[in-house]
Formats: sequence, C-alpha cells, structure tokens
Amino acid sequence: MELVRLETPSAARDWCAQRRAEGRSIGFVATMGALHRGHMTLVRQAAQENDLVVVSVFVNPLQFNDSTDLERYPRDIEGDCARVEEAGGTMLFSGTLEGFFPGQIQADGELQPASLVDPGSAALGLEGEFRPGHFMGVATIVNSLFEVIEPTRAYFGLKDFQQCLVARDLAKARGNPTVVLCRTIREEDGLACSSRNLLLTLEWRDEAPVIQRALGATRVLWQRGERDAGVLRDFLAEGLGASALSVEYAAIRDPLAWTPNDPTGTLDQAVGLVAAKAGKVRLIDSLLLHTDGGDLGL
Ligand code: PAF
Repeated sequence: MELVRLETPSAARDWCAQRRAEGRSIGFVATMGALHRGHMTLVRQAAQENDLVVVSVFVNPLQFNDSTDLERYPRDIEGDCARVEEAGGTMLFSGTLEGFFPGQIQADGELQPASLVDPGSAALGLEGEFRPGHFMGVATIVNSLFEVIEPTRAYFGLKDFQQCLVARDLAKARGNPTVVLCRTIREEDGLACSSRNLLLTLEWRDEAPVIQRALGATRVLWQRGERDAGVLRDFLAEGLGASALSVEYAAIRDPLAWTPNDPTGTLDQAVGLVAAKAGKVRLIDSLLLHTDGGDLGL
C-alpha cells in the first residue's frame, strides 16, 4: 500500500482520529530519520502487532544541546519514506517545531518554558548529566507526538535505555499508549545500529564495536555469577580502557529501580550503559545483563 505522507499535526491528528474511529489499532515509531535496520525492525514489529503503523520523522532541535551536532545530524527524508513503505508503514508524519508549538517559540528561537514537559526521575544521571536538557526535549516532543497520533502502542529501542524509561514513565503518567521496548539491533561486528554511525570515519567505525564487546564481556561476568555493582562497573570500564574512544560514562544500573548515581552492593538485575565519543561522533549503547530478551518487566 502506498505510504501516506503528512506534514502538519492537524492533518496527522485527523488522519489518526479517523483510523481509530474505524476501530483500527495504531502502532507508532518515533524517529529523527536517517532510518536504519534498527528502526525498520521496530516498524515491522509494529506492523505485526497493529492494524496500521505511523512513523514520525522529526529532527527535534529541543533535544540537542550542541548546535553543531544538530546541523550534522544525517537527513534523508526520501530514503526514509521508501524504507518505511517497504517495512509495512502506513503513514509517515514529518513536522516543524513551529507546527508542533504554534505561537510558543520565543524571539530567541527557544520554546517557551511553559510548553516544556518534565521528563521525570528516569532522566536523572548519565545521559541527563552529560546532556543537560536533552530528556526535557525528548519528553516534550514525544508527548506532543502521543497527543497528535494517540497510538495504541509505541515502540522504542533499548539502545537508548534511559529514553525508554522516560517514554515509559511519560506514557504511564498520561495513561497511554502502551510502550513496547525492543531489543537493540546490531551490525555484524556488534556495533548498535544508529543514525550517527553514518558520521563515523572508517577508522572510528573499526574502533566503535569495542563498546559492545565490553558490554558483552560484562554480561558474561554476570552469567558467571558476579552480582556486585561496583565490580561489574569496573570490569565494564576496563573493557573500554585500552580503546581510543573518549568514554563519558561506563555504568551499571538496576533497570527496575533507576538511580541517578551508581548503585552499590549486589543487584538482582542489571543493565550496562556506555556513552563514548568516537572522534566527533557521540555513541551510546546499553545491554541488559540478566536477560537476553523476553519479558523485561520494565
Ligand atoms: O530516539 C530518537 O530518535 C528521538 O529521541 C525521539 C524518540 C524520536 C524523540 O525525538
């Protein structure tokens, strides 16, 4: 079926409302475009579990705390449309900040503070610390997208683990949609699929899979019985120590009890999280240590 393309929140809202009135369930995948296999896996899963799939493509300026990063972010809307259609998407919604927030953009280009959405406690620490304001930008736009589309289910990839928690908490507070968290899709050498991988030089692309190797080795340590948060964290950090990457954090958290600071003592479940710069490109990844999928209970 030919992909429907809509560019204004009102057109998208009306289209979705009509589909819901027909009794159809809507699966939703929020993206910033430059779609890769990870996104396509979310779209395919959404297509299997819902009558229709909406994909949003919007490079959200509210969540970038570095203007160069925003400018360099890869964009490929025509390629995105082709990929979404091929993966079984029904409607692609792209928008503008002014379209989402009419009359709410200040003279300095910033969104007026009253329109910002609090991302909650899962935004504290790690990404929240290294990218101040990032999750407020994410929560604000995800909330707007939920309001426009009113999806039945929304799909998020676990690579962006903290974002998953923020989206889950936001949906819980709103009462909808059901948030479905999906396992990270990786390249053959283990590097987590990310739109930012397109920006890596060949040398940094070769170096980047060390992140997954360090996370994978930490999971092996967990499988061998290690449960101490500090030991797991040090082991993860050591796994990255010899690489040329500039590590921002290598951390362990209890995924069911998010804390801004490093937990101490033994854990019943754990997630390893890494953020590192490969040259100018910031990469993040995460790996649940206690499970390789299934019901995460998140
Ligand atoms: O993960 C992303 O691509 C973005 O953070 C999201 C969820 C589309 C919000 O802009």
